[in-house]
Amino acid sequence: MAFSFNFDIPLQTTDKCDEEGKVKDENQDHANKSSTIIDAGESVPNKVKEATEHIYTPDALSQIENSVIETVTIGTLPPLHYLNESVFEQTVSERADSENILSQAVTQNSDLISGVYEGGLKIWECTYDLLEYLDDEGETFSGKSVLDLGCGAGLLGILALKRGAGKVHFQDYNSTVIEQFTMPNVVLNTEEESDEEDKEDSNASPPPKRRTLNASPHSLKDHPSFFSGDWTSYLALMQTKDPTFKYDIIFTSETIYNTEYYSPLHSVFHELLAKDGVVYLATKSHYFGVGGGLHLFENFVEEKAVFHMKYLKEVDQGLKRHVVSLSFKKHLS
Ligand SMILES: C[S@@+](CC[C@H](N)C(=O)[O-])C[C@H]1O[C@@H](n2cnc3c(N)ncnc32)[C@H](O)[C@@H]1O
Repeated sequence: MAFSFNFDIPLQTTDKCDEEGKVKDENQDHANKSSTIIDAGESVPNKVKEATEHIYTPDALSQIENSVIETVTIGTLPPLHYLNESVFEQTVSERADSENILSQAVTQNSDLISGVYEGGLKIWECTYDLLEYLDDEGETFSGKSVLDLGCGAGLLGILALKRGAGKVHFQDYNSTVIEQFTMPNVVLNTEEESDEEDKEDSNASPPPKRRTLNASPHSLKDHPSFFSGDWTSYLALMQTKDPTFKYDIIFTSETIYNTEYYSPLHSVFHELLAKDGVVYLATKSHYFGVGGGLHLFENFVEEKAVFHMKYLKEVDQGLKRHVVSLSFKKHLS
């Protein structure tokens, strides 16, 4: 079985297409191997996945028990814990997955099936670029409302939680991702015992470890919120819940690979970002196989004339990667 979930933190990127036109993405950033296989399909199915809010249930804890836990440590950032993604591959036949994305990803040997599975069950390398940028710049979150849009593992939102954000929302296309990856990761990072371990771990990158939990998460019920569904439905849901609500910060990593989604993505930014808020977008310059990339998205943003885009960080390891920000043009804020 050549299922390609990423088990390690990536180091550099040399993207190339294989003979079938799928993208192979050899990352070797922080650790070692990984590969990304994108299946754009014949045409992108224009599926609507109705937005749902996921209420934390103790079941999130059962996803963690006896799992291998990884920790990413970047500069002075607090250690961020997450489930080793291999757990999905290893337990695919035992997992309740109402979307059936695990077995489809295995069968199709793909990290992304447009309109079906949007890639959230692994950590994509630009997440680490954005974490590094946030470490360099010392972004503060105190009291801010933060959205991790297309969150996958949710490391960006988890950082905001750990750094005192007032409200953190996690959104992913797939409910399976939210329930089986994002939510358990948040639990892992909010349980009391990890506070102790954070202190011990701060100088070293610990080896993967198996952890049995007995702690209950202390802030989940009233603090972070979790949503699945496509961006159009998500925006509608948020506007129904509270038409005045806005985010101070929207994080979004590796979400502009598909030009078909630029309009709903831009609408989320436009409608849900506070007037003086910032979108932090981390992306590769180009996504072979699906066709999107920073240049096309920048053109789209310029045509809309709502946001000013600023280049914040560039990583040049084969295919270029970028961190950019979007903020409202002055006359609109
Ligand atoms: C390639 S994954 C990146 C995951 C994570 N941000 C990371 O960097 O590891 C892209 C994410 O974008 C989100 N996404 C893509 N297209 C979407 C759409 N049309 N509606 C809602 N979410 C979408 C999915 O939730 C998916 O997890």
